[in-house]
Amino acid sequence: MLGGFSSSLLLKSSVGFTVHPQTRSASLFISSGTGILCDCPMTDYSMSMYPDTQEIYRRLDALMQLPIHGIRPDAMKMYLEHFDTHCAKSKEMVTEARKFIPGGVQHNLAFNHPFPIVIEKADGAYLWDIDGNRYIDFLQAGGPTMLGSNYKPVRDKVIELINEQAPVTGLFSEYELKLAKEINRHVPSVEMFRMLGSGTEAVMAAIRVARLASKRKKLIKLGGAYHGWSDQMVYGLHIPGTGGFEAHGIPKSCRKHTQEVYPNSIDALKKNLTMNKLKGGTAAVIVEPVGPESGTRPVDREYNKHVRELCDQHDVFLIFDEVVTFGRIGLSGAQGYFGVKPDLTVFGKVVAGGYPGAGGLGGRRDIMEHLAAGIESGKKRAYVGGTLAASPISSAAGYYTILEMERTNACQKAGRAGDRMTAGLEKLIQERNLPYVAYNQGAICHLETVGAMFVKLNLIRNLVTLKIRSVLREISERKAAMEEMGAAYMAEGIITLGGSRMYTSMADTDEVVDDALNRFARVFDNAK
Ligand SMILES: Cc1ncc(COP(=O)(O)O)c(C=O)c1O
Repeated sequence: MLGGFSSSLLLKSSVGFTVHPQTRSASLFISSGTGILCDCPMTDYSMSMYPDTQEIYRRLDALMQLPIHGIRPDAMKMYLEHFDTHCAKSKEMVTEARKFIPGGVQHNLAFNHPFPIVIEKADGAYLWDIDGNRYIDFLQAGGPTMLGSNYKPVRDKVIELINEQAPVTGLFSEYELKLAKEINRHVPSVEMFRMLGSGTEAVMAAIRVARLASKRKKLIKLGGAYHGWSDQMVYGLHIPGTGGFEAHGIPKSCRKHTQEVYPNSIDALKKNLTMNKLKGGTAAVIVEPVGPESGTRPVDREYNKHVRELCDQHDVFLIFDEVVTFGRIGLSGAQGYFGVKPDLTVFGKVVAGGYPGAGGLGGRRDIMEHLAAGIESGKKRAYVGGTLAASPISSAAGYYTILEMERTNACQKAGRAGDRMTAGLEKLIQERNLPYVAYNQGAICHLETVGAMFVKLNLIRNLVTLKIRSVLREISERKAAMEEMGAAYMAEGIITLGGSRMYTSMADTDEVVDDALNRFARVFDNAK
């Protein structure tokens, strides 16, 4: 399936390819901008078909009209007893940790209810806790491990590298070049690549360089999207219209130039771009290409193309945040799938294959050249850095992960698991006549049971109509129900992301997925 790679520079035109997911065939496209004409490498995608977004929103609206269908109190009592009897060592360690670590846990994705579980082994599709319980792992560390956890062929290469070189030297290692070339081969819009310490850092770098290159300040994001936790991006998190709701400890001035628009509304984006012209202009529009929160609010199939067109019309940079989607939708990212070429692409997670130092920024040569590093005076550059950024470990792990994913067709396998899981969940939901909604974008599965992120919260409107208290109460009730749901899944041996998302990997065979479905069935049997 892999084609060769040849390139020639095309000025004032951009090139990518449109993939037709049903047939898995691809065609080349050419649009405006600077780009590279390539005989594009054809990688497979995890998405076998694009979800019907209108139908998803219709069902989510219906879910939100109903009372919460959480876990029955008697069943919840049983699940909580399970944690006390089967997870005693975790409980003891976390109780001790609370004295030294705020909240007793360091990861935002770790379940706190009834207490965090201490993991001591990860392998493929499974995790084991210190009490010896085995879990099917659909958190997958938040997404980087498309080959499954602790994948041996990559681990062996990393160990070899540590033995022969060093985990870090602060100077150039061959793997930096190997990884950058590999990314360029799969993601042609990335003419140049710079590795950074995390997705958060890479988003910061993208915004900084976009501002430097455009000489403008405003940044438009989609409401509800997550782009890391930098001062300027803790804005409109989780729920569209929430502005600085979560921005505790962040001065208002930090988000002065950040704006949010409602996902899927091209008119709103157009309006903002037009209005911004009176305020010094927009530096960039940044999107999660499958929709905010890794597609929790999915965007319509053509949305990204329309965003690209608008950015071209207004001469504004388009940034794709592919921290989750690079490698999870396909090795050419969501941009390969949608056939849209961004000016800059943010990387994270899969880019270091589950090893530390998972961040990177790539894109047009003329923009990326503002990010040159090294001791050199007199150059106007967007200043970024990091002691451990582009370490031999992260670069080599990313490089070998990409090679292995290509060799094993990991995206397609993980997507197949996502499809099987979603179809199975939908069957369970329908058989029990529950109002839940399951859908997937390949290896990203969504299971909305309580809709905690779908409460309609609009800070300004709710304050004006004095509804803010009841809306906040609803959010907190739905969040509590979601935590219970997540705890029930965990007691049944399934680890999810926040009780509503599951990342599948190549390790999720039909057998693993079917086992998980039996466990989900038991939880659904205990729903109100
Ligand atoms: C879309 C997106 N952007 C940025 C980030 C931040 O990446 P990191 O956690 O590596 O800082 C995340 C993290 O989950 C993400 O999902």
